[in-house]
Amino acid sequence: MGMTETMKKHISIYLDNNATTPLDPGVADKMCWFLREHFGNPSSIYPIGRAVKDIINQARENVARALGAQRSEVFFTASGTEADNWALRGVLDTHPEKSEIITSTIEHPAVLQQAKYLEKKGIKVSYVPVDSFGIVDLDFLRAAITPQTALISIMHANNEIGTIQPIETVVSIARDHGVLVHSDAVQSFGKIDLDVVKLDLDLLSVSAHKIYGPKGVGALYVRKGVDICPFIHGGHQERGIRAGTENTIGIVGFGEAARILMERGRKDRERIEKLTDSLKKGIEEKIPKVRFNGHPEKRVKNTLNAAFPGLEAEAILLALATKGISVSTGSACSSESEEVSPVLLSIGLRPEIARSCIRMSLGRFNTEDDVQAVLRELPDIISKLRQISAFDPEE
Ligand SMILES: Cc1ncc(COP(=O)(O)O)c(C=O)c1O
Repeated sequence: MGMTETMKKHISIYLDNNATTPLDPGVADKMCWFLREHFGNPSSIYPIGRAVKDIINQARENVARALGAQRSEVFFTASGTEADNWALRGVLDTHPEKSEIITSTIEHPAVLQQAKYLEKKGIKVSYVPVDSFGIVDLDFLRAAITPQTALISIMHANNEIGTIQPIETVVSIARDHGVLVHSDAVQSFGKIDLDVVKLDLDLLSVSAHKIYGPKGVGALYVRKGVDICPFIHGGHQERGIRAGTENTIGIVGFGEAARILMERGRKDRERIEKLTDSLKKGIEEKIPKVRFNGHPEKRVKNTLNAAFPGLEAEAILLALATKGISVSTGSACSSESEEVSPVLLSIGLRPEIARSCIRMSLGRFNTEDDVQAVLRELPDIISKLRQISAFDPEE
């Protein structure tokens, strides 16, 4: 099943799937069915409530299976952001005898801003730098661990440049010191095989709206045996560690999105990788002086982050938007701020180069026609913008 006509008209050519993905029509159907048929509170013990509890647990089972986890290890949250915040704060609250955490310089704000908040509360945070491909410095990480370290939080795939971190090595370093490991897998879920048992992680965050599910629902995987204090206090929902009446409709959508992912995810990925490769090749052939950021191999294969030296990314983005093509200048969360992307600065780009970068991220509903449309429009846009800028092609 493809996108509805209204969705197609509305979004034209959508190449910003790392910001969010269109709702899969199968997910929409399941959510509509649930809305019509069920209203019960899953905490109620009579049949109307029990039915909803069962449906939520089926969704939990689907998300767990898609992650290689057990159902009892998945806790629904209001977003990937909440899952990230919870992982950091929850572990520190559980271990008041410890006072340090380690993360990287290229984390999503959901981790970085929580780390900054914790610093204000007296927690020491070490930020592991990355190389020019965006891979964390493992020697720095090793040296940063102390007996006070409660948690290492390193993202799985980066949202802006797509680089995948060597999580298995991070975990083995952490294990040598008895430190817990969390990974923000919001961008890798659905884009590469994700198996929490193989990765040997303690905690992992995911979000429904990056896998063609609804916005406003995420999950934290907490490995069996790992203790984590609640982040939101109240009732007994989510086995007593995440209070609040469940976002039942969101959870149902998340479960269905995870089920569809298991059904067709691999095939989608192969197709998306081919489309992305042909887009990259076409851009390289048609546009001089373009540079791609991120690791050439160790990256999610739907993401292209390209620098067009001499130009401002906003100008490119707006020109593409007038042609009905949606891309982004960095992470969705920072696209409204003037700030230069900390991720691009972390990989060593000069600010003026970082400001020239656009991110194209493909997904399930992109087609070869979309790629051809970008290859028709983008070279012309770049060449016109370069004519009116101070760009010197010989430089
Ligand atoms: C890597 C990463 N972590 C966390 C988030 C936040 O997830 P949510 O939008 O569900 O809060 C995002 C969203 O862009 C992301 O890309």
